[in-house]
Parts: sequence; C-alpha cells; structure tokens
Amino acid sequence: MQNFTASKASRNTKSLEKCILSPFNLRMPLVLEHSGKLIVEIGFGNGELLTRMAHSRTKDFFMGIDNSEISCEKSAKRAYDLKLKNLKLIRGDAKFLVRELFANESLDLVLAFYPIPWPKSSQSDKRLFDRNFLMSVSSTLKPKGKFVIVTDDHDHFEWVKENLKSLDIDFGTHALQPLKSTKYGRKWENLGRSSWSIVVHPKQFKIKRILEGDEMPHAHLNDVDIEKLKEISKKKFCDQRQKTIVQFKGLFKGENGYILRTIAVDGKFSQMYYVIVKPREKGWLVRLDDVAKVFKTPAVKKSIEYVAKEVKS
Ligand SMILES: C[S@@+](CC[C@H](N)C(=O)[O-])C[C@H]1O[C@@H](n2cnc3c(N)ncnc32)[C@H](O)[C@@H]1O
Repeated sequence: MQNFTASKASRNTKSLEKCILSPFNLRMPLVLEHSGKLIVEIGFGNGELLTRMAHSRTKDFFMGIDNSEISCEKSAKRAYDLKLKNLKLIRGDAKFLVRELFANESLDLVLAFYPIPWPKSSQSDKRLFDRNFLMSVSSTLKPKGKFVIVTDDHDHFEWVKENLKSLDIDFGTHALQPLKSTKYGRKWENLGRSSWSIVVHPKQFKIKRILEGDEMPHAHLNDVDIEKLKEISKKKFCDQRQKTIVQFKGLFKGENGYILRTIAVDGKFSQMYYVIVKPREKGWLVRLDDVAKVFKTPAVKKSIEYVAKEVKS
C-alpha cells in the first residue's frame, strides 16, 4: 500500500506546476525558445507515448494538448519522474488551442492517436477533425511537416478523408496493426480491431485567431453611477459583425468595490468570469477579476468596454 505523505503531495504539486502550462496568460501565438523539432500530441491520454518520445529525443521539444485534467496530471507525473525538460502540457480543447497557440508554419510534427470518433450524428459537433480544425492544423505545419492521425474507427477514417478532400489538402493513408505504444492501441489490439492512419501534408489557409493582438484593456473612470451599474448587471449586448455576445448576470458588492458576473460568447465559445468595478484613490477602475481563468477573446475585451461606457457618470 502506498503511503501518501505530505512530501509526496508537495512533489505532486510541483510536478504539475513544472510541466503544465496555464493557457490563460500566454501570449499567443506562442513564441518558444527551443532547439530541434517542435512536436505536438493531441489527446495524449495517459501520456506514456508522449513522455517516452520526449525522453528519447532530448534535442526536440514536445507539447501535449488534452482536455482531461486526469490525463494532464498523470502525464505530468510521468514527466516529473523522468525529469523531462523538453515537454509542456496544456489542458484544454484542442480545437481552440491549436488554432490560437501555434503560428502558421511553426510545427514539425502533430500526432493524434485514437481520437474519440463521436459516431452518432447528434455528437457530430464534438468531433475534432472537422474542416476548421484540419485547416488550422495543416496551416501550422512547416513546409516539410506532417500531421499523423491513427484511428480504429473506419467510418471516422472515411469522414476525416472526406473533409480533407473537400479542402484539397494533400494526404496519404495506410491500414496498419494497432499501435502497441499507446493504451488505446493495445486495447483495440486485444479486441482484434484494425487501425488506419492518415498522414496530412501542410497547406496554408488564412486562419483567424481571436486571441491575437493587444493586451486586455482596463478602463479608468472619473466617477461611476451605481444605479447604472445595477442596470447593466441585467443587460445583454450582441455584436452581429464580430459574432460576440456579452451578458451580465448579477452584481455583488465586495469589500473593495463591485463585482459583475459576466458571460462572454465568441461564436460557439463561451466563458464565465467576473468584471471588477473598483474605487481607487482617484476615480474608478474597471478590470477583469485577477484570478479569472479566462481567455482574452474579443467578447471578453468588449465586456470591459461595455461596462466602462455604460456606468460612467
Ligand atoms: C481515446 S483517448 C486516446 C488516448 C491516447 N492517444 C491513446 O492512444 O491511448 C482520447 C484522448 O483525447 C482527449 N480529447 C478528447 N477530445 C479532446 C479535445 N477536444 N481536445 C483535447 N483533447 C481531447 C481525451 O481526453 C483522451 O485523453
């Protein structure tokens, strides 16, 4: 039986801090100082393949994206035990993160092994390899870069191929034995399933990244009308052109000012956070909550502008 001591707990926390990057305060697209190749695995699961690759190819730099907290924690522990310095993990939706994190022509290799196929038509929104995602990934590849997908699901394989064809992206396919190097590869091997790979080649598309650009605006106001602040806390603002919605959902009075519960939507991407309206020695400050885990999207920036415009007196 394992003895879970305080030192083990602190070792675990350290392992997570060292290896897992918080995406919220990163400047995007990323500028990484690294030598060798830049290799990204999407949906790394328990991280066994990713950490093994990073361990054996110390001159290259590896990044993993997975939306599961457990996957990130397990893989960070593996990375810590192997003392890896050439691996960073980011937790989040790869659809959003690949597009925002990586500049065009910046990656040597992207890997995605046994993605969830979401076979029902009611789940089609969840499938990763839709046209937008394929455009993002093929644009991030360097001229000799490759994106390798391996799946055990033939319908999914056909669906990805159709999407690639419709975008006129060059690719090759192979039937292969399930990969022994990943947990799901072994699982499908034990069940006697087949695997298919798709190797996608680079193609440049004009990618619209919503996190590019200026830092988050703060607003300084000479005075604030508290009645107007109460009014805005029930209001919704839509911008058809930018496809953004900002909805304020309640006002709280804190020790150091006012807190507005806010929902910001960019297209289908929605985030909840707080906007702070706070008196200062001279005037007022409107800003995001310090601890907000929020991407500074156009809708989030607009939420600050809306508050500043509506509540000044
Ligand atoms: C079926 S598992 C495969 C794991 C591993 N590649 C393997 O072969 O064992 C799929 C992985 O993709 C991750 N995933 C699913 N959807 C994702 C998304 N939209 N963005 C990032 N990761 C995702 C899941 O959390 C899970 O770890």
